[in-house]
Parts: sequence; structure tokens; C-alpha cells
Amino acid sequence: MEWVVEVEGLVKEFNGRRVLHDVTFHVGRSEVFGLLGPNGAGKTTTIRILLGLLEPTLGKALVLGERLSESRELRGRVGVVLESDGLFSQLTAYENLEFYARVYGLKSAVERDKRIREVLELVGLYEARSVRVGYFSRGMRRRLALARALLHSPDVLFLDEPTLGLDVEGQALVRDLVTRLSREEGVTVLYTSHNLNEVEKVCSRIALLVGGRIVASGTVESLVSEFSKPLVEVYFTSTGEALKVAKYIRRLNYVVECWCDGKSVTILVESNSDIPKLIDVLARSGFKVVEARRVERRLEEVYLELVRKN
Ligand SMILES: Nc1ncnc2c1ncn2[C@@H]1O[C@H](COP(=O)(O)OP(=O)(O)OP(=O)(O)O)[C@@H](O)[C@H]1O
Ligand SMILES: [Mg+2]
Repeated sequence: MEWVVEVEGLVKEFNGRRVLHDVTFHVGRSEVFGLLGPNGAGKTTTIRILLGLLEPTLGKALVLGERLSESRELRGRVGVVLESDGLFSQLTAYENLEFYARVYGLKSAVERDKRIREVLELVGLYEARSVRVGYFSRGMRRRLALARALLHSPDVLFLDEPTLGLDVEGQALVRDLVTRLSREEGVTVLYTSHNLNEVEKVCSRIALLVGGRIVASGTVESLVSEFSKPLVEVYFTSTGEALKVAKYIRRLNYVVECWCDGKSVTILVESNSDIPKLIDVLARSGFKVVEARRVERRLEEVYLELVRKN
């Protein structure tokens, strides 16, 4: 497979302080790859190195097989949303896009106008096109930054917290847009966000960065099943029965934790194969199980578990 984004053995030091330690990950064409991690983990630094805005101390950071800082042609195939949006407050939304459309080399005035209208529609800002950006809300600025990133129909998008400050509708708009671009136009996206529900919906694969090190990577499903122990919820006929069960099964060696909530007992076990064992033990001990179901684990729980551990 030919990688669109290749990061290998990446090390970055600021004044001798190491903030990226041997970071490696690869992103394939039309993937939406999520880079996750707590504040200061090194996500933005990794993106800035990929964009050629920072020099790596060691290692490789390539886009479409090249260093972005060394290829003008390549820069024209990349769109970015960074923390600082680079928009001019004294210009209107339209004028900002007009400026960037020229920077990106969209030569014909007719073409520029057509594309500017298109991207304004895409981010829901067409009505606000003649408003000065200085009067925009934070969310509107974010939308305009995304519109600017899309102007020249890039093949690769680097979106560093694109939904920061967006309302619920704006977040859904970005999610749908990113999903559509990757599925329908084959655009490759490197995405960061602190909203894990959003990441679960948008990203095909993720890497978790903690303290400048990748501590886990893979699809959301693979991470959730690899790193979270199974959780089972079992309902009984009465609260008294549930309490008795909890006391009884706490002694089993494969039960990591269990707690009561009314008529139900929630049980964390070591592995999947412990679930039938558990049900069997309950039945043989004469407890009357009304209902038993596996609780679906979410990325957020796995994330918190991994961040705490590292
Ligand atoms: N130009 C710089 N000079 C010195 N230190 C820096 C510089 N840029 C980033 N750092 C340090 O590098 C580390 C990683 O920062 P980075 O901005 O990449 O984190 P992040 O994962 O993007 O965090 P956040 O979620 O808050 O955006 C931090 O400790 C930060 O202080
Ligand atoms: Mg950042």
C-alpha cells in the first residue's frame, strides 16, 4: 500500500526537551485517521512537522512520499485547519476566501467565484458572506477556516480540532462533510479532536498519543475490544437477591469488580470466555436470572483507562 501520510521514528525536541518520542503511524488513501491524546501530548507538533512548519529533530514525516516543505506542487494538494486560523478580521468572509483562492492559484475569476460560493454553502456560511470576519462568532470563524481549507479541492486534509467551539449542528456538519469527502472524493484526512464521540463516528483508525508516545493504535472497534475488559449486567427478581449475588460472585477469581444497582448487578470480568462461566455459576447456585446482557464499551472508557495507565 502506498501511504499518503508516513510518520516514522519521529522525534522532536524543543530546547533539549523531548516532546515526541519515536512516533510512528501511517495513513492510507481516503482514510480518516484520528490523532488523539490529552493536552500537550504532541498532536499539533506532529501536524506542524508534517506541514513543514517545524523541523523534526529525528525521523521521517512525509506526505504523498515527500516532505511538504520541499515541494510547492505538493503544498497545493493539501488543506489545513490549525489552531490559529489565519483569517483577516477586517475582510469579509468572501474577501478572505478570494484572497486565499488567489494564493492557491485559482486563476480564473469566474472559477474562483464559483468555488468560493460552493465552499461557503458547504460550511453553511453563504448568507454571512458579506459580513466582516471580525464580527464572526468563534464557531463561524472555525467554519470559514474549514471553507478555506477546501477551496482548492485538496487530496489531503490536516484538521487540528476542526470542531473546536462549534455548536451541535456545526459539529454534525463537519462530521458529515469529512465523511463525504473521504468516501466520495477519496480525500485523506488527519483529524484531531477532544470529542471522542465525534472521533468514534468519523475516524476509520486512530492513534493515541500520551506524553509524546503512541500508546495504542488501530480501529476504534479493535481498541475497544483489546483494551477493555467485558462488562456484564445481570438482572434479578429483587434488590435483596442482587445484593446476595454480588457478595457471592465477588469471590470468583475472574471477577475484577462488581457492583449493585437496584435489581441489577454489573460485573467486570477478565475475558470474554468468563461470561458463560459466570452465567453457569449463577444458574447452578440457584439464583434466578431475569435478564443478562453485555454492556457495550465505548472509546471514552478505553481512552481514560489508557491515559491514566500511561
Ligand atoms: N514552539 C514550541 N516551543 C517549545 N515547546 C513547545 C512548542 N510547541 C509545542 N511545545 C510543547 O510540546 C508539547 C506538545 O504540544 P502540542 O501543542 O503538540 O500538544 P497537543 O497534543 O496539540 O495539545 P492540545 O490538545 O492542548 O492541543 C507541549 O509540552 C508543548 O508545551
Ligand atoms: Mg494541539
